[in-house]
Amino acid sequence: MTAGRFEVERYVSPTGIHSDTYTDPEVFRLEMERVFESGWVYVGHESEVPEKGDYRTTFMGRQPVIFARGDDGEVRLLLNRCRHRGATVCQDQAGNSTFFRCHYHGWTYKNTGELAGVTLPDGYAACGFDVKTLALVAAPRCDRYRGFVFGSLSPAVEPLEEYLGPAATYIDRFVDSGSGLGVRVRRGVPHRYRFRANWKLQMENTVDGYHPGFTHRSFFDMMADQTGKKANPYFKRGESPIRSKALRNGHAALDFGAGRSAEEFGDTFYERVRNAPGAAAILEEFESELGAEVARKELNRVIATGLNVAIFPNLGLIQSQIRVTRPVSVDETEVTLYPTELIGADPRVNYLRRRAQEVFFGPAGMGGPDDVEMFRRCQVGLAAGAVGWTVLARGYDTAIEEGDGSEGDFAAENAQRAQYRQWRRLMDAGPGDGR
Ligand code: FES
Ligand SMILES: [Fe+2]
Repeated sequence: MTAGRFEVERYVSPTGIHSDTYTDPEVFRLEMERVFESGWVYVGHESEVPEKGDYRTTFMGRQPVIFARGDDGEVRLLLNRCRHRGATVCQDQAGNSTFFRCHYHGWTYKNTGELAGVTLPDGYAACGFDVKTLALVAAPRCDRYRGFVFGSLSPAVEPLEEYLGPAATYIDRFVDSGSGLGVRVRRGVPHRYRFRANWKLQMENTVDGYHPGFTHRSFFDMMADQTGKKANPYFKRGESPIRSKALRNGHAALDFGAGRSAEEFGDTFYERVRNAPGAAAILEEFESELGAEVARKELNRVIATGLNVAIFPNLGLIQSQIRVTRPVSVDETEVTLYPTELIGADPRVNYLRRRAQEVFFGPAGMGGPDDVEMFRRCQVGLAAGAVGWTVLARGYDTAIEEGDGSEGDFAAENAQRAQYRQWRRLMDAGPGDGR
């Protein structure tokens, strides 16, 4: 990348992405500044910090953050940096505490961020300012939608609901799809992993309906053997119920259709989950309580949402799971999966919900590891920079493009094109471009 204006057209065209977009460390640095540390990013779900003093540590871009509910009941995003000499003040992934104490020289902060005490305070008498005013710095913007908490390190962002736009209705569907009482994140250690590839490969993949029939073919073949019927709802050209939806501001969804389940088209979470430990016995219980037909229909509806949603830049809602993508470097990404539970549901339903997502996305799952392998292969292949551009043109002629939004068939790449329209907009608008 040359100094001066960031020439977005060198990186993104209407139908392709230049490989430098995934491999150039300078592009990554600018993405952190202009996308992750200026715009809205997803931080966590309110149900992770239900009580006063609850916290979870995370990152906004490169910046360490404590997602904390203070003793005053407020949720804040406190930068995890001691005001003395910069050490992190909270090391744990999650917990509950009244104070955050820096272990370097002992400065102590309340869980609201306020500085509670400075060790050996007399030594600061002549420094010209009152050290006691040095609170932990909070992200200037923190807002929530249906329990999903977002933050921005820049005060100059539009209101969150404006940013989400039509994507908010997909969050509604995710939240309302089960018991009607909403969802909560199951507390405990989430499933976290890293891969050696650029973060955008994960964002593209969250709403990529083109790949499952190929990348996950062994899974669909196995399900077909098990059930005796073709089990691949994605790859029936012209028949698939799944639509690729591009929404405003880079958000996108693969949508099975409100009120429809994948089962109608051959994919059945009910059969997927049967392979998980303890699940077959629970399915039999439900079958004898409700009858086989009703059990299948009802459970398919509540153990998966029929949605893959990508909220730009770092949130995925995939069936019953919340997926958070954290860029670590240009070729390293950390992904965390948070299973959700239906509030007030039969515990057996929540058990099946967890197992259903593990069967595909777990560490030994039959689908998630396939995707990670593809991300790695892309990163290795994209190093062949002499080739230049990728092709992101599928459905370009047929997707109904309307303003920032569009709709295409299940394998259209209109969702990814929308993600890159937003990427361009943010990357093009940074300071120092000489304009
Ligand atoms: S760096 Fe925190 S007390 Fe010194
Ligand atoms: Fe996949």
